[in-house]
Amino acid sequence: MSREPDVSRGGSLSHRAVAWLEERVDLSDVRHFVETKGVPVHGHKLWYYLGGMSLFLFIVQVATGILLLLYYRPSAEEAYESVRFIVTQVEFGWLIRNVHSWSANLLVAVVFAHLFSVLFLKAYRKPRELTWVSGVVLLFLMLAFGFSGYLLPWNELAFFATKVGTGIAGAVPIVGGFMVRLLRGGDEVTGATLSRFYGLHVAILPAATTVWLGVHLLLIQRQGMSVPISVERKVQRGERLRQMPFFPDYVVRDVLLWYVALALLAALALFSPWELGVKADPFAPVPAGIRPEWYFLAMFHTLKLVPAHVLGIEGEVLGVLGFGLAGAVLLAIPFLDRRAARGEPSPSFTALGVAALVYLIVFSIWGYLAV
Ligand code: HEM
Repeated sequence: MSREPDVSRGGSLSHRAVAWLEERVDLSDVRHFVETKGVPVHGHKLWYYLGGMSLFLFIVQVATGILLLLYYRPSAEEAYESVRFIVTQVEFGWLIRNVHSWSANLLVAVVFAHLFSVLFLKAYRKPRELTWVSGVVLLFLMLAFGFSGYLLPWNELAFFATKVGTGIAGAVPIVGGFMVRLLRGGDEVTGATLSRFYGLHVAILPAATTVWLGVHLLLIQRQGMSVPISVERKVQRGERLRQMPFFPDYVVRDVLLWYVALALLAALALFSPWELGVKADPFAPVPAGIRPEWYFLAMFHTLKLVPAHVLGIEGEVLGVLGFGLAGAVLLAIPFLDRRAARGEPSPSFTALGVAALVYLIVFSIWGYLAV
């Protein structure tokens, strides 16, 4: 029920502003949402904060990215110099670039943590299958942001890592050659590749992410937060589930954590500035120590370890097909886990999650040490 607004009476400025608006626009739905939304309180409630943290770090990326755009120049001749100008000449440019770089890495780490927490709590089970699917798409989009952004400073490390990374697409059967040319804008990594990665990074990926983030958040608001199966069973046995009001109790806690993240980002930017390295020289020999961003290391190292030929199939082709299959299984988890869909524990999917986590950690460290 909407309350009758009355702008004539006193009250704080914000109350009067809301009342003024309500006289003109029907805000009863918003008011109802704000007054009734609750977050379940139980032993695993801490994991709920990871989604909000992902959202915050994404907003940091958008804000700092827009500021970087004011000075960045997307050409092979000027990109490196423009980033050097940002970090040495522009007031607080170093801070903005460092926060953008650190926050990108933190964002990927937090999104992975969010995925695994959702996986282990089986929060993907019916009716949240589409929330999971939209989340996996968001993870892929975050990885694409990382991959495309890595090349933009046009430094040596990024140039050769992109050469290797885009070359891997060539192993995809049938369309591989086309994909490499599509990504590179030709047969080699050149200024044309930089233009394409720039377009991806500042236009295509932000637009796609806005849509998918909208879907993700809309579904979450419509469905409310899930509770773990163990808690759900207690509720079915008649135990009461405590709820915390979303406004202001939960939001205050969320914002507090965002402050901590911001402080951490500022400290990292100050004490551990992101290196710019040397400008890319396409004709220079491949330098030692070329490696992708840490979140691609596990895949990178797996491809290195696969034998050149397995049962007559090229090892790299097999590896790429394996990653494709893993991505498809990841998307389909809510539809494959029938036990969780019925509200029953599903230890085999927990074991699959543990195996995936162990694989990612071990192969990332192994890949890092092997370079
Ligand atoms: C940019 C990336 C992402 C953002 C900004 C984001 C944001 C959020 C937010 C704000 C919530 C509500 C609070 C919470 O449960 O943590 C949430 C819930 C959820 N997210 Fe994400 N998310 C992202 C990526 C992902 C990924 C990669 C997955 C999994 C594949 C995922 C699956 C889910 C699911 C199933 C829920 C509902 C959880 C529940 O009801 O208990 N999200 N997300």
